[in-house]
Amino acid sequence: MPIEWNKQDRIFHLYNRGISYVIQIVHGKYPAHLYWGSRVQTLQPASILTCKSRAFSPTNEPKDTQFSLDTLPQEYPAFGNGDFRSPAYQLRTRDGSTITEFVYDSHEIFQGKPRLDGLPSAYVEDEDEADTLVITMVDYQLGVGLNLFYTIYRDLDVITRSASFEHRGSHQVKIHKCMSMSVDFHHTNWDLLHLHGTWARERHIERQPLIRGTQLISSARGASSHQHNPFLALLSKNASEEYGDVYGVSLVYSGNFQAAIEVDPYETTRLAIGINPFDFIWILKPGETFQAPEALMVFSKEGLGGMSRTFHRLLRTRLCRGKYRDKVRPVLFNNWEATRFNFTEEKLKHLADTAANLGIELFVLDDGWFGHRSNAKSSLGDWMVNRKKLPHGLKGLAEYVQAKGMQFGLWVEPEMVSPDSNLYRSHPDWCLHVPGRNRTLSRHQLVLDLSREDVCDWLIETLTTLFRSAPITYVKWDMNRNMTEVGSAALPPERQKETAHRYMLGLYRILEILTDRFPEILFESCSGGGGRFDPGMLYYMPQTWTSDDTDAVERLKIQYGTSLVYPAITMGAHVSDVPNQQVGRITPLQMRLAVAMAANLGFEMKVDKLGEKERKEIRRGIQYYHQIQKLVCFGDLFRLISPFEGMDTAWMYVAPTQNLAVVFYYKVLSTPNPRLFRLKLSGLHPLVKYRINNGDQAYFGDELMKVGITMPLIKKDFFSEVFLVKAVDEA
Ligand code: DGJ
Repeated sequence: MPIEWNKQDRIFHLYNRGISYVIQIVHGKYPAHLYWGSRVQTLQPASILTCKSRAFSPTNEPKDTQFSLDTLPQEYPAFGNGDFRSPAYQLRTRDGSTITEFVYDSHEIFQGKPRLDGLPSAYVEDEDEADTLVITMVDYQLGVGLNLFYTIYRDLDVITRSASFEHRGSHQVKIHKCMSMSVDFHHTNWDLLHLHGTWARERHIERQPLIRGTQLISSARGASSHQHNPFLALLSKNASEEYGDVYGVSLVYSGNFQAAIEVDPYETTRLAIGINPFDFIWILKPGETFQAPEALMVFSKEGLGGMSRTFHRLLRTRLCRGKYRDKVRPVLFNNWEATRFNFTEEKLKHLADTAANLGIELFVLDDGWFGHRSNAKSSLGDWMVNRKKLPHGLKGLAEYVQAKGMQFGLWVEPEMVSPDSNLYRSHPDWCLHVPGRNRTLSRHQLVLDLSREDVCDWLIETLTTLFRSAPITYVKWDMNRNMTEVGSAALPPERQKETAHRYMLGLYRILEILTDRFPEILFESCSGGGGRFDPGMLYYMPQTWTSDDTDAVERLKIQYGTSLVYPAITMGAHVSDVPNQQVGRITPLQMRLAVAMAANLGFEMKVDKLGEKERKEIRRGIQYYHQIQKLVCFGDLFRLISPFEGMDTAWMYVAPTQNLAVVFYYKVLSTPNPRLFRLKLSGLHPLVKYRINNGDQAYFGDELMKVGITMPLIKKDFFSEVFLVKAVDEA
């Protein structure tokens, strides 16, 4: 049983082969954080819990003058009765106060992992894959319970955490803050790493030393956002790709979030992640429960690479669901960059003919097929095919595509409404808005109010009819603006601050029902590219359109940064035309292919305008991709050279059996008179012999990893090479 309860010292020890997480109930009341990191046998509480009385730190237990909540490393701290640091939660009671006294009441340990009500979460397939501890704290005066959930996986160095408030008292309380996890480290010798960006420049990496005070990574946009990803990591100073301690936390949530780090004067570091408390208030009535989203916590002593591989395994096998979870994805063609809104049935058929001829397996019809939409200004909400553009309807086109041997996929943007739409004209109060205030447009559209049950029900039925109207096996679910005037016509004034979170609950309900009703459909989420690339969306839709930026050079950074948390099988990556539509850059087809092949390969270009040479290259590229696709999708990722550090980038995927690997190397600009350069591989078996691209020479894995491969001296910009590394006894 990997959760032990030492009754005498009141210590919980959660462990597996790799990690330990230790909690102590101090003074029978307070859950203190003792340790999280590499596996230890046992912990002697006296040696680790150094709580000291400090000037101006209050004395919570008069008989223990050394004890203060202000200096105690805690599991789920409050504010207002001793600890002056940032709290994990805050409730406002009937008397207007935010003082609460939650103390340990009981606990439960059991096999397996419960699902969270109405929220996405990691799961187990067998009860013995994980064990769960629930610590229940109670504020006896309020009659409110606080459950702290901890699950440890048996074979993954992962702890998941969440919290819920359960009201068993008699007067409503207001929840102002409810983080999913909080943890106090006993030193500050860390670097903070997070993923930041904007549209077309998502998930760039930033690493900087911690500073005293509070550092926040957050979104208040109503989506996890292009700007910050709901993830951060603390790295020991010496941590690199392969070595050093790394603690990564990620939130399974797609809305407003906050990840906070606080460094106090006694050199402790508090790390917390959860729903953004800014602009959030939730009323909890007697008999109700509020459930916070789940936080995924990964510890790696093998640097960032180890952290990523654990996240990848967790997300790929125990967060993503459905038929496509363990399947390689069809190579797709998407007409967006080829036609934008400007297409006819004939044009699409022509593109489909060419796509089929290239070996493409799925034809995706993007924006502009419905209502009277010929630009971004109208028709969102009117999910009826535009017969002027498609006289034979979606069915006619889909059948044509099928006859060409491809599957058919469709773009939708269901969460939005255009003011110029029949939907808006009949239901002007169905969008997020505040009565009497301006309804701010973004991309000419408003956001449907998914906090309303009736709107969600309408959407579920409308999309059900749509998805049944043609043989659709893929859906791209887009979302192209962030929220403003966040208010709901269906909620009373005192509940308006619940709207943004209720929206997420509504969206998750819709997705749960639709993915259940349409198990054959592969859903890909999108928000102007990667504006909502988060584990919450991946729970329902196992892949995400990584970025609207399809330039091969920009993609190196975007895909590299994304790979810190998300596995290749969750990333859509397309080859597009040159000059690139986002940056105007001209890169060779070979490099565009080599970059897109490192994830789910697709094409988004005027395929009908390609010359025979390029067509041949694409055909060959797709054939090659099929050879390496399983490795890319299910192999372990080893990042070799970062695009953030120079002109070279390299990464590789290694089969779990270590008998096969595929290496991707890219050089953006060539250097005059360059150094001799050896690329050191990683993740191979040191004592197994390998051949490169079936060459004559065989090398031990340790040579390839320690000495490396001498790379050619290249006098060419935008160079790329993909090569296979195969164990000698593999045919
Ligand atoms: C934004 C997406 O990211 C694009 O790929 C495309 O689908 C457009 N929306 C269509 O409006």
